[in-house]
Amino acid sequence: MKDLETIQGSRIYGRRQAKPLKENSAARLNEYLPKYSIKPGKSGFVELSKLFDHNPTEYWLEIGFGKGEHLVEQAKANPTIGLIGCEPFINGVSGLIDQMVRDNVTNIRIFKDDARLLMDALPDQSISRSFILFPDPWPKKRHHKRRVVNPGNLAALSRILKKNAELRIGTDHHDYCRWILARLMENADFEWKSEHPDNWHIRPDDWPPTRYEQKALKAGRKSTYMTFIKKAYN
Ligand SMILES: C[S@@+](CC[C@H](N)C(=O)[O-])C[C@H]1O[C@@H](n2cnc3c(N)ncnc32)[C@H](O)[C@@H]1O
Repeated sequence: MKDLETIQGSRIYGRRQAKPLKENSAARLNEYLPKYSIKPGKSGFVELSKLFDHNPTEYWLEIGFGKGEHLVEQAKANPTIGLIGCEPFINGVSGLIDQMVRDNVTNIRIFKDDARLLMDALPDQSISRSFILFPDPWPKKRHHKRRVVNPGNLAALSRILKKNAELRIGTDHHDYCRWILARLMENADFEWKSEHPDNWHIRPDDWPPTRYEQKALKAGRKSTYMTFIKKAYN
């Protein structure tokens, strides 16, 4: 697996830790993270077939799961799927583990670092669905290069997504929404699945809410829910 130094534009822009973890959460993190965390095999690639206790029918990936509400709900609703969550913010990872333990969820594996490192270590066409929900908008122009939805990450996703796989992206930020659509439209590997323009403001039933979406709602901001399909031609 590569380290961040060898990845262009190397550092992660965001917090790795906020306030110290509560004693119980820290204990749960220490106990469960080693069991659920993802380590690449000798080849440098993640050996998906060895990752889960069950034999998943598909693998789904969430990038930047925050505190993990969406990931846990998807895992509970889809017990045959192997879910992979990626999040460098340790308080978020701890929040996910608390929910997994509380709800006895075992079909999630965690990568506690930058999504770029994980994507690099996933095999070609191995992921059937991917989620990037309410990524940090980095509104200032000089910070746009920090946006997670960018040409490099879309190329990495295109490599690891299966043909006809879904990429779901949600945002409450108008400018980032336009940016996301533009980046996806200029990438020939994806097409936007929009049956009707009104649909973007309606969260699909099988798309559980997230903490940031709820925050936006409380602040009176509408969100956009976009689904892209990885084209089948390559
Ligand atoms: C605004 S929060 C949204 C969290 C959650 N998806 C939600 O909707 O509530 C964006 C998250 O993306 C994570 N993030 C930022 N850069 C990342 C990267 N390179 N790889 C993985 N996660 C990243 C941040 O740590 C943060 O938790």
